[in-house]
Amino acid sequence: MPTVVIIGAGTMGAGIAQVAAQAGWDVQLCDLSADALARGVSGIRAQFARLAEKGRISTEEAERAAARVRAIARLADLAPADRAPADRAWADLAIEAVIERLDVKHATFAALEKALPAHAVLATNTSSLSVGAIARAVRDPSRVIGMHFFNPAPLMPLVEVIAAAASRPDAVDFGAATARAWGKTAVHAKDTPGFIVNRVARGYYLEALRLLGEHVSTVEKIDKVMKELGGFKMGPFELMDLVGLDVNYSVSLSVWEQMQRHPRFEPHEIQRRLVDQGCLGRKTGRGFYDYTGPSPVSAFPSVKTAFTLPPEVEQAVHNFAAAASVTDPHTPCRYIFARILCAILNEAALARQEGVASASDIDIAMKLGTNYPHGPLEWADRIGRDEVHKMLACLEAHTSAGRFRSAFETTQRTHIEPGR
Ligand SMILES: NC(=O)c1ccc[n+]([C@@H]2O[C@H](COP(=O)([O-])OP(=O)(O)OC[C@H]3O[C@@H](n4cnc5c(N)ncnc54)[C@H](O)[C@@H]3O)[C@@H](O)[C@H]2O)c1
Repeated sequence: MPTVVIIGAGTMGAGIAQVAAQAGWDVQLCDLSADALARGVSGIRAQFARLAEKGRISTEEAERAAARVRAIARLADLAPADRAPADRAWADLAIEAVIERLDVKHATFAALEKALPAHAVLATNTSSLSVGAIARAVRDPSRVIGMHFFNPAPLMPLVEVIAAAASRPDAVDFGAATARAWGKTAVHAKDTPGFIVNRVARGYYLEALRLLGEHVSTVEKIDKVMKELGGFKMGPFELMDLVGLDVNYSVSLSVWEQMQRHPRFEPHEIQRRLVDQGCLGRKTGRGFYDYTGPSPVSAFPSVKTAFTLPPEVEQAVHNFAAAASVTDPHTPCRYIFARILCAILNEAALARQEGVASASDIDIAMKLGTNYPHGPLEWADRIGRDEVHKMLACLEAHTSAGRFRSAFETTQRTHIEPGR
């Protein structure tokens, strides 16, 4: 059986270990903390037992899968004792899922390079650091790739496979083939800030925060609009509360810094304040909503607003809403929808233009990685690229400069070609 070494037995490492073991791989799971390792392994066993209870897998399968996960306290203990040192091919892949700090990732990769056979591919699950920067810790960076799983790894179907400048094509292909063999959909992305999903999704959160900060509307109303008019499963504030405001904020900060602090990615003061106050969302019982009662209620003070738009913006918003088949006639709702959706569509088009990924991989990634109702590029085509461009041009003229500079041409093109 092929073996994967997973470093970090926290949320992601344990989830990825479960996926690999269920797919028949032997797993060596390592964590610096004995408690985290014990929690990770017992959590995986409990998940397999639950799957057996629900009849999704047989009891024997659950036991076999659980037995494939071996807990390793130190990297030095990695190679199995029952194999001769001459067995140089004992592991094919390592996936690093330690905390999101470059110095910790560097130490982990340097140790992995020493401990693993030369052919093994070394992957990082980083959300927002540069894979190329992580690979600087090893002598042979061509074996380093990104394999970005989503949380919870056993349930989320997407893996972004990241090629850094030095990554060998066969290492990247191996990462993608392994993700597929583990039942996931693999998309390819270049080693750029936020890759596909964490870049294109920024607009969903940041534009919602800006609307809140401008007192255009309330947390509940913005969430409701995006669900009802946009067809999103969760509103931006509900989603930030679920992900964790600290996690979401640090990804925004990291992407913003790597994007030379472009105004499109500027993190919002409201979110920073909530993080400082320890209001991190569901995990602390309070974020934008309060979760301590029988059902979530808004925990964010709503400010009464007198919302008016210049006539030309109002007209553009109605044209855009009509093109997007929005039936809700209310101007504020349509405005919220247009601002947030345009930020996403434009970011997807920019990512495509910059060669981050193919159009089809961008669409697949946003549907599978964030549950968007449509891929953003196919959505722009459906609305009409010309309509999207007009809305963006209008928003660019009426908001702080640079955020809505349109990536869409005014000349109609029916589809962005899917080639990579
Ligand atoms: N949580 C998410 O939603 C999510 C999603 C995708 C990717 N990621 C990325 O996955 C990685 C892990 O995130 P997480 O949420 O699982 O974090 P986590 O805090 O739940 O787990 C990290 C684990 O790494 C261990 N660790 C720290 N330093 C170590 C070392 N030197 N050697 C071995 N183990 C060490 C910690 O003890 C901890 O158990 C991060 O890079 C994060 O950006 C997270």
